[in-house]
Amino acid sequence: MKKIYLSAALLAMAFMLSYCHTAKKAAAAPAAAPLTFEANVAPIVQASCAPCHVPSKGGNKEALDVYANAKKDIDDIIRRIELAPDARGFMPMRHPKLSDADIAVFKQWKADGLIEK
Ligand code: HEC
Repeated sequence: MKKIYLSAALLAMAFMLSYCHTAKKAAAAPAAAPLTFEANVAPIVQASCAPCHVPSKGGNKEALDVYANAKKDIDDIIRRIELAPDARGFMPMRHPKLSDADIAVFKQWKADGLIEK
């Protein structure tokens, strides 16, 4: 008899655990909000394209922390960050290639319509 209770309790626990697990997963993946320049793109530019493209940090190349510039040049930006690091025109110049996740942000920002904020 004890054994039956025990396995019933275990079964119930397993059920609850798997239920919680799927519930958590669903909550962690809400419908993706569109990416924006301010929230998603500018932080990558600040971290990876400075100082060269961030005038306030002493850069003298095109200011890519400025929305209008990043928007205008998005195709060139995506082209360059996807090049092999030793290819001509690769960005960020003299730095390691951006992570796949960061590259995906630029592409998704374009796909979402190049929203400012
Ligand atoms: C170490 C300095 C440096 C860093 C860091 C750097 N760049 Fe550049 N970038 C340059 C230079 C120098 C040029 C001009 C030479 C050229 O066009 O290849 C340039 C040119 C560009 C251009 C062409 C702009 C134009 O005016 O025609 C784009 C687009 C660009 N970079 C994107 C980026 C992006 C995106 C990042 C960050 C992920 C980045 N760069 C990081 C130095 C840098």
